Formats: sequence, C-alpha cells, structure tokens
Amino acid sequence: MLTVALCRSASKTFSKVSSPVSRVLPHIQVHSGYVPGEQPLGRQEVIKLNTNENPYPPSPYVVAAINDEISKLRLYPNPTSLPLRESIADLYDLEPNQVLVGNGSDDILNLCARCFADHDHPVGMTSPSYSLYSVLASLQHAPLVEVPFGDEFGLDLSDLLACEANLFFLTTPNAPSGTAFANDFLSAFHDGFPGILVADEAYADFAPHNAVGLLADCPRLIITRTLSKSYGLAGLRVGYALGDSGLIEVLNKAREVYNVDRLAQAAAIASIRDQSYFRDTTEKIKSTRKNTLDDFRSRNWKTYESATNFLFTEPRMMSGEVGLEVAENLFCHLMQNGILVRHFPNHSLTSSFLRISIGRDDEMIILKEALSKWKTHE
Ligand SMILES: Cc1ncc(COP(=O)(O)O)c(C=O)c1O
Repeated sequence: MLTVALCRSASKTFSKVSSPVSRVLPHIQVHSGYVPGEQPLGRQEVIKLNTNENPYPPSPYVVAAINDEISKLRLYPNPTSLPLRESIADLYDLEPNQVLVGNGSDDILNLCARCFADHDHPVGMTSPSYSLYSVLASLQHAPLVEVPFGDEFGLDLSDLLACEANLFFLTTPNAPSGTAFANDFLSAFHDGFPGILVADEAYADFAPHNAVGLLADCPRLIITRTLSKSYGLAGLRVGYALGDSGLIEVLNKAREVYNVDRLAQAAAIASIRDQSYFRDTTEKIKSTRKNTLDDFRSRNWKTYESATNFLFTEPRMMSGEVGLEVAENLFCHLMQNGILVRHFPNHSLTSSFLRISIGRDDEMIILKEALSKWKTHE
C-alpha cells in the first residue's frame, strides 16, 4: 500500500517538473513547419491553379498497374525500388546506382539536408525560393545562408560563390519566377563551390534544357526531379535524385527503407514507360502556357518567360497601378470566382505578382472570363 502511495506521489512530482514539451529539442521548439498551398477539401468545385499540379490525369496505364498491385499489398514493396530506378536510369542513359527514389522529391531534399547539413554545416538557398529548404535547414539546426536575387530575378555568380554553405539548394527552372538558369551558369557555380549543389529540377520537363548532361563532369551535383508535375502523380508521391553513385549511396544510407510504396512504384513505372502520353500532355501544357503568357502580356502585365508549368505575372489596374494590394485584390477576386492561385506577399520581388499554374484550356478560358470581370477601373 505504502509503495503504491509513494509511486503515485513520485509520478505526480515527476509530471510537474517534466512536461513532454520540455523534452523537445530546443531548435525544434522554435521550428515552424512547411506551409503548403491551400488544398481544398473537395466539397466545393474550384479551379486549382495554386500548387502547380498537372491539369491532366496520369497515363491511362497507371490504373491497370495499380490494380495489379492491389492483391500484393500484404507484402512489403521492393526496398530499393530497383525496377523503377532502372526505368529512370534508362530515360537518361545513366546507371541504376546513379538514381535514388523518394516519397516525392521533398523526401530526397530532406535526405540531402540530413546527410549534408547540421549546426556546423550551413545550408544555402536563393531568396526568395522554395520555402521547404529553410524548413529543412531549421530541422537540422543548420545555419541558413540566403543569397538574394537581384532585380528581375537576376543572380550574381560571385554572390553564390561567396556563400559558405556545405549544401546549396538551387531551384532550376526557378520558382516562383519560372525562369531557367543556363547550364554554363550551373557548371561554373558547381566548379567554384566546394559543397554539394542540389539542382532542384521539379519543373525541368517543361523547360528547353536541363542539367542531366552536367552530371558526368560535376561530381558534387545532385539533381532532384518529381513525378508530381509533368507526370500528373502528385497524389502518389514519387520523386528521385540523379547523381554520382558515391553520393547516391550516401543518401541511400539515410533513406527510410520502404520509402516508396508498392502502388507508387508500379504507377511510376507505368507512367515513365508511356512516354508518348507524357510528351502529349507536356506539349499541351507548354502550348497553353504560351497562349496564357500572350494574354497576360496583351493586358500589359509584366510576366516572366516561363520554363515551368506556371506563370509569374504582375496584375495591373487600368489606371496603371501595380503592387501588393493590386495582387491581393485580384487573388481575392479569383478566389470568389472559384479560382485558386498563389500570392507571396512577404518579399519585394514577389508581393505584386501572382503565380498561376497552367490548367486545361477550358480552365484558362474561365480564368480569362474572371479576369475580364475584375473591376480594374475602380
Ligand atoms: C521547387 C520545388 N521542388 C520540389 C517540390 C516538391 O515536389 P514533390 O511533390 O515531388 O515533393 C515542389 C512542389 O511544389 C517544388 O515547387
């Protein structure tokens, strides 16, 4: 009896001095998680142009591939995603040991941070850029070095080279501007930078060029790709890294062993095999992008040339006024008309712009109709 009473009073004292929160690592206590673009709950009909998903469904072969796997779901997936890595390696004429597959490319970016960043090994990124990079740095308790873009999203090589990071995330083509970096620029950065350079090529399938050809001469380059955008598989979560086999092996050691499930592996293989569907949908998106760019420019809206599946445009009132309030006003107007786009109000290079994903042609017609109803004369 006495023992029970003692235990009870000890546990009371313990719970007073040690709340679970006090056990959280100090850098995690102050950490803020990544905030994704709005994902509607599906109850209301919206035209979703805010997170750069593909407006077309994935290859029709995906359905059969997934159906074939369903009866095998009691079994663990292939732990190294080998057949999928072989399909990806074939695409680029690389070896499977130069490919690592992840649960979305975010998983790969996380592995890069896990392997190459900590308190003494800073993370570099351009500013503004994909905000997940700073979240990953914070999780690793790594200092963050931000290299600011200049006017018009120009980037000085000397600024990049002066950055003393161990790991640098460069989005190319860039988000949110949509502009692409030349391969000469990337290889000059790689050659002068002693750390690991991650070229995040989430949007490269919509671009006129990519950095895969640089891999042979750039041993510290890791390219990350995703099937979320150009293959229409955002809901399944498949991304991959390409790089030197030694670097890929390092990332592989840090990987959760079953990081890509059976359905995702099968669907990704089926999608990659169907290159003709991939080409058709990608070309269609590029053609809609061109028409939309022409439309925005005909309204006298500053719009960057895009190598991605979105446009970054600065809406302008009839009075000629541009700015944060104008962008916010159009953002709200579109939302009221059931169209979701993205506004980044917190940076001077982005606050007066909206990022608009390329949808199907019929969706872009509805966007145009909503734009013509925008009371720009008020
Ligand atoms: C620049 C960039 N990198 C990576 C990702 C993440 O892609 P995934 O869906 O493969 O995790 C995104 C998603 O929007 C992105 O914009």
